[in-house]
Amino acid sequence: MENPVIIALDFENGDKAKEFLTSFEGQSPYVKVGMELFYAEGPSFIKWLKERNFRIFLDLKLHDIPTTVHKAMKVLGGMNVDLVNVHAAGGIQMMKAAKEGLVAVGAHHTKLIAVTQLTSTTQNVLRDELLIQDTSVNDCVVHYAKLAKDSGLDGVVCSVKEANSIKEYCGENFLTVTPGIRPQGSDIHDQARIATPAEAAKMGSDFMVIGRSITQSDQPSDTYQTIINEWRESYENNNRKTFA
Ligand code: C5P
Repeated sequence: MENPVIIALDFENGDKAKEFLTSFEGQSPYVKVGMELFYAEGPSFIKWLKERNFRIFLDLKLHDIPTTVHKAMKVLGGMNVDLVNVHAAGGIQMMKAAKEGLVAVGAHHTKLIAVTQLTSTTQNVLRDELLIQDTSVNDCVVHYAKLAKDSGLDGVVCSVKEANSIKEYCGENFLTVTPGIRPQGSDIHDQARIATPAEAAKMGSDFMVIGRSITQSDQPSDTYQTIINEWRESYENNNRKTFA
């Protein structure tokens, strides 16, 4: 069983991220570099992490015409990160182009996943702003997951609440990466569809993306370990390994 936590390095610059990572001296947790940090520091920060053996999820959520996404993915593939993503809302052609971009540069090690609906998106936002009517968030997410699977992607970003349905429709090996995780009793911030680490394990989440609960903790390394333990205990109790 893999370590299920990906720490979201949501910092405004590399110095702040590096300072935070000193709490993890001697460990190289799986980390996520998102738009804020990547736009501030660029590929040099990815190189810095790679030299220190961190596993990296480069979360840039590409969403553009297929040709542009294909070319951008060729560049990201060259960075040899572990995980990259696109928005499923870009459609099948765009997702296939993304995958082909990675293949074109030999980035076979880099997994590609699709964002379904952001975990901050509620049923009201879906209906009143996106004009996706008569469809529940869950059905919309499962539909996007199927499109991602048909496009040859390795998995999706989704909320814990949808992970189980996605495993049912797309297979146990289709990755579910779930943000919106909050340990019991912690601040939910701007997330809408949240769950605890124990629920994440029970519902079939492969990786939990966790930002503020760890980055704003007084003892980041202890909080990280507590979250892993809570996930493991629930995973073993719920016997996910035998999920068919
Ligand atoms: O601080 P928090 O744990 O809410 O951080 C969650 C991280 O996951 C953020 O970096 C956010 O951009 C990302 N994310 C998300 N919902 C998605 C996709 C990514 O919250 N659907």
